[in-house]
Amino acid sequence: MIAVEGLVKAFGPRRAVDDISFSVDKGTVLGFLGPNGAGKTTTIRMIAGYLAPTAGRIQVEGIEVTQNPVRAQRLMGYMPENTPLYDEMTVTGFLRFVAEVRGFWGRERGRRVDEVMEMCMLTGVRHQPIETLSKGYRRRVCLAQSLIHDPPVLLLDEPTEGLDPNQKQVLREMIGQMAPHKIIMLSTHILEEVEAICSRAMIISEGRLKADGSPAELKQRSASRNLLTLEVLAPAAAAREAFAAIPDVAAVTVVEKAGERTVLRLEPRDKQPLAVGAMELAASRNWMVVGMQVDPGRLDEVFREITTTDDVQRPKAGEAVKGEV
Ligand SMILES: Nc1ncnc2c1ncn2[C@@H]1O[C@H](COP(=O)(O)OP(=O)(O)O)[C@@H](O)[C@H]1O
Ligand SMILES: [Mg+2]
Repeated sequence: MIAVEGLVKAFGPRRAVDDISFSVDKGTVLGFLGPNGAGKTTTIRMIAGYLAPTAGRIQVEGIEVTQNPVRAQRLMGYMPENTPLYDEMTVTGFLRFVAEVRGFWGRERGRRVDEVMEMCMLTGVRHQPIETLSKGYRRRVCLAQSLIHDPPVLLLDEPTEGLDPNQKQVLREMIGQMAPHKIIMLSTHILEEVEAICSRAMIISEGRLKADGSPAELKQRSASRNLLTLEVLAPAAAAREAFAAIPDVAAVTVVEKAGERTVLRLEPRDKQPLAVGAMELAASRNWMVVGMQVDPGRLDEVFREITTTDDVQRPKAGEAVKGEV
């Protein structure tokens, strides 16, 4: 388990990480989501034991990271964001070196190096100096080094950055396979990644935790949640009037009309589901429903709301905000 409490990191007067608390259990793939400069890397570096917090506590499997960084690091694999590697080493040479640093020698070292090379599809470039590798391969070497001791906790800072779509897909599958046995925490600013691989997402903005939940839960906050698009065989004006009279419908827009066919957009009140009511109404009027689409809500919308309202609305010290009591 990872437990983070009141974590703060100040660089001069600025707080890059500002009082973040959370805990994560085994089997979770936690997506750390936020715009550039939100504080993702700083938080991950502190958890990984490479950066001292200004305040707060971090425990990994019960070990205080700040007090016992070396013991804690045995439990963690860390893939940093900018791929720091020893360029002149070959892939095998580098991974052997990392294995030795982790305390593996002889046959065990060879076994672990071979295993992570295979997992990360590096076997074909094993004898190449790292400096000759493309960005995608370098990212995979970096991932391989984080896996060499098969740690229960994996911290991946923008792991898919620089990978092509196929490589991204492979990495996502790898994460999915490892997930049940580990805690995997990854940072990203790619929303579809969170939806594809994370069981939990935390949105961070300006060093603060703004939202925490499953991707599905977060999407429910979206303004377009339960927006209903309906295609009916009915005259446009009559249809608009009838559907607008449903109590949970806040507004109706005619999107398209062609002869008897009308496409309407129904906006719900308080994100209430509208499909059943709309179907019942159509049936009672003998209007055939030929198409229907319910908007599940969109993570990018929630992300934008959470990460931009702040910049626009947060008052400066001493400044009054209209309408705020
Ligand atoms: N070593 C440092 N010295 C001063 N400021 C830093 C340092 N590292 C990060 N920052 C600042 O902290 C903020 C958060 O950075 P970072 O954690 O890298 O964000 P993210 O990974 O979410 O893009 C940024 O404003 C960044 O400029
Ligand atoms: Mg970063």
